[in-house]
This record gives sequence, C-alpha cells and structure tokens, in this order.
Amino acid sequence: MSTAEIIDGKAVASEIRSDLRTAIDDLTDAGVQPGLATVLMGDDPASETYVNMKQRDCEEVGINGVHVDVDGDAPAEELYDTIADLNDDPEIHGYLVQAPVPEHVDYREVVHRIDPRKDVDGFHPENVGRLVAGNARFRPCTPHGVQKLLEAADVETEGADVTIVGRSDIVGKPLANLLIQKAEDGNATVTVCHSRTDDLAAKTRAADIVVAAVGVPELIDGEMIAEDAVVIDVGVNRVDADTEKGYELVGDVDFESAQSRARAITPVPGGVGPMTRAMLLYNTVKAASEQEGIDVELP
Ligand SMILES: NC(=O)c1ccc[n+]([C@@H]2O[C@H](COP(=O)([O-])OP(=O)(O)OC[C@H]3O[C@@H](n4cnc5c(N)ncnc54)[C@H](OP(=O)(O)O)[C@@H]3O)[C@@H](O)[C@H]2O)c1
Repeated sequence: MSTAEIIDGKAVASEIRSDLRTAIDDLTDAGVQPGLATVLMGDDPASETYVNMKQRDCEEVGINGVHVDVDGDAPAEELYDTIADLNDDPEIHGYLVQAPVPEHVDYREVVHRIDPRKDVDGFHPENVGRLVAGNARFRPCTPHGVQKLLEAADVETEGADVTIVGRSDIVGKPLANLLIQKAEDGNATVTVCHSRTDDLAAKTRAADIVVAAVGVPELIDGEMIAEDAVVIDVGVNRVDADTEKGYELVGDVDFESAQSRARAITPVPGGVGPMTRAMLLYNTVKAASEQEGIDVELP
C-alpha cells in the first residue's frame, strides 16, 4: 500500500503570485496598474466571501481592486449599466460578475455583455470558442489552476488517460478542452463523466489522472482509483462536523482511501482552491498587458 504525495496547491499558488508581482511591478513601472473589478448582485453570504477574498488577493499583489455592489432586487438593467461602465473604464482591465445572480437575471445575458477582452473568468462565448479552437485568450481559472498543479507536480499529460468527473461550463468542459489540445500541457485522452454516466467507477479506475469536479462529498473513494493514479480534487463541500463553525470542508474525493492508492493527490482545502484564486490574478495581469500593449513575463 502506497501513500500518495500531497500536491501542495498553497505553495504552488504562492510561487505564481510571487512571479505575478514581478510582472505587476513591470507594468507599474511602465505607468499601468492592472485593475480588477468584482461585481456582486445581491447579498449571498458565500459570494460575499468569494469577492472579499478576490479583493484581498488583489491588494496583496498590487492590483487595483474595485468592488461594485448591485442591489439584489434591482432590475437586470442596473447590472447591465454597471457592465457597460466597466467595459468603458480604462482603469479596469478585467472584471467578473460573481455567480449566482438573482433569479430574475439571466446569467448568460450578463456574460454576453462583458467585453471579451476584460472577461477574466473566460466565460464569454468568444473566449470559450477561442479556447476550443486552441487559441485561448483567458483560460478559466480553475481548469488553468489544475493544469498548473499537474505541471508543478511533474505529471505528464501527454498520452495520459484522464477521467474528469463533472461537465460544468466552469470546470469540467473547459478542462477537457484544454487537456485534449495539441499542446505541451495537453495531448491527453480525456473521458468526461456526469450524473448519467454508466459505471463511473470503471471510468475512474481506467485513468492515469482523475479530476473530480462534482460537488458531492467524497463520492470518489480509493476503490475507484487505479494504483498510482494522480488525483485532483476540485470539490469544495461543507459537511456538518463537530467544529467551532459546525462544519468542515471536504472534497469530492474520500481523501484517506484515495491517498492509500494514488501516486499524488490534492488536499481540500489547500489544493485547487488557492490555484483558482491565483489564476484570476494571472488573467488580470494578462488582460492589462494586452490592453496596454506592454509585454510582461507571465508564470
Ligand atoms: N476549488 C475551486 O476553486 C473550485 C472552483 C469551482 C468549483 N469548485 C467545486 O467543484 C465542485 C463542482 O463544481 P461545478 O461548478 O463544476 O459543479 P456543477 O456545475 O454543479 O456540476 C457538477 C457536475 O457533476 C456531475 N455530477 C453530479 N452528481 C454526479 C454523480 N453522482 N456522478 C457523476 N457525476 C455527477 C453533474 O452532472 P450533470 O451535468 O449530469 O448534472 C455535473 O456535470 C463543487 O464542489 C464546487 O464547489 C471548486
């Protein structure tokens, strides 16, 4: 029985942030401070936490972080006006509208209205199309973070069989599209699973790399993983626990049993989460560099 190496997302993200600081200094020396805006419509507590973290990250690396609140009961047009203002604001190089938006607002329409050059989440259809075509402008943050983690852990994707559990627009689908690209960090053979997949365990067991992005606590256990596979756990789930907060965070993978089979595994928390945050900063720096026509070295 082996014990998997733990892929330390916190450490990898910290290295990326440190490299980004250098790029940000170069931009600032050239007279440009990268600007990132977060927009939150409504007062969903989890969303508030996420945008606060994004703003803190900006402050830490020297990005000009701006936050815009939109009343949750306001008509969709008020959000559209905010989007139009941000599209026109030369100091904002990238921005995102935190999901979920209130029910009376169509999130697809929101994403359509974002200037694709400022769409640092990478969700605009133009950016999705570019990614599929192998000419990505912004890689969505979580899939990009997963690729960077694999690279940092020296996990070869070329020729690897990868099973991704989850086909969401923000994780599963873009990650599958990135990993099948004819590229150094692609060239994998990818299977994408979802809630209608027959015999999930057979698909995960056949993989050299398993990526879980499901949202079901500890769905994937050691029995579902091949000996010496690499396991990337994207899931973040709150489960009741006897802790001060009354809950704890667990992934989509049963860490203990998977760790005894895998070659390498990401923990939750401290795996993919910090990478997602770092790659948002990466996309903001890239956006600033491209919009201002100043070349900087990206990690
Ligand atoms: N760490 C991070 O930075 C980060 C970033 C994003 C998301 N997350 C976390 O990652 C997880 C997934 O997020 P998401 O936004 O991609 O979720 P999502 O939009 O809810 O998609 C979940 C996917 O899992 C599939 N699924 C659900 N139950 C399944 C089952 N029993 N067997 C196989 N497939 C199943 C669904 O299938 P159908 O398509 O058939 O419904 C769907 O494709 C969540 O825990 C989320 O909190 C973490």
